[in-house]
Amino acid sequence: MRIVSPPRNATPPIVAVPADPAPPAVRKVHVGCGPKALLPGWCNTDVRPFPGVDAVLDATQPWPFRDLTHVFGEHFIEHLEIDAAIRFLVHAGAALAPGGRIRLSTPNLAWVVHAHFDLDPPSLERRIEDTLAMNRGFYGWGHRFLWTEEMLRLVMTAVGYEDVEAFAYGESRDPELRGLERHGGYVVEGGHPSVIILEGVRGERPIAPDPAIDAWLERELLCHVRSGH
Ligand SMILES: C[S@@+](CC[C@H](N)C(=O)[O-])C[C@H]1O[C@@H](n2cnc3c(N)ncnc32)[C@H](O)[C@@H]1O
Repeated sequence: MRIVSPPRNATPPIVAVPADPAPPAVRKVHVGCGPKALLPGWCNTDVRPFPGVDAVLDATQPWPFRDLTHVFGEHFIEHLEIDAAIRFLVHAGAALAPGGRIRLSTPNLAWVVHAHFDLDPPSLERRIEDTLAMNRGFYGWGHRFLWTEEMLRLVMTAVGYEDVEAFAYGESRDPELRGLERHGGYVVEGGHPSVIILEGVRGERPIAPDPAIDAWLERELLCHVRSGH
């Protein structure tokens, strides 16, 4: 390339060089990513600023993203109280474009009971171990609410997700959502998968809170959790 010097005293040309090229738009958001399960090609977000997190995001508050194609959260939603989980589902839905897809994986309460509590224990020791194991499932690791497939499906459908469908570990109809799970130890026992994995689609209808579900949960659970006695 030949570089031509401008004549002396000439006004130098103004060349628009983008100093900081616009970052590619975020299309796929990984919520509650933690420090060990970062996904290449995704915007990895967490409420805590772990090394490798692309954006610190409280997923229960309005999101700074729009027109997303995918949202993924593994072993995340059980860390939220159920009302906060519903707020997360609504904000994620507002950030998804119509046709966008959410995939959530979370421990299965039905499996936790099946694998950890023998109603007819062979020994006193077994009853004591089971008592601890069940409480570990509910309160361990910062858990706030354990889900069944039916309950998660009900809530996702109530706020407006369409085509809610269960998948096995690592499997999906959508190539972008295959092979994402990182948590090991997925088993199916007595017909119960240890982890529920559900996908839903944001249709044309906006995802929005369902006052009837909110009132029902308030009556059946939340007022009792708050009351403390
Ligand atoms: C059990 S860890 C799972 C981490 C990762 N997904 C994995 O499978 O290894 C749960 C994560 O959810 C994050 N978290 C909890 N509440 C959150 C919130 N309101 N918004 C975003 N992340 C949250 C925690 O900081 C934690 O990193």
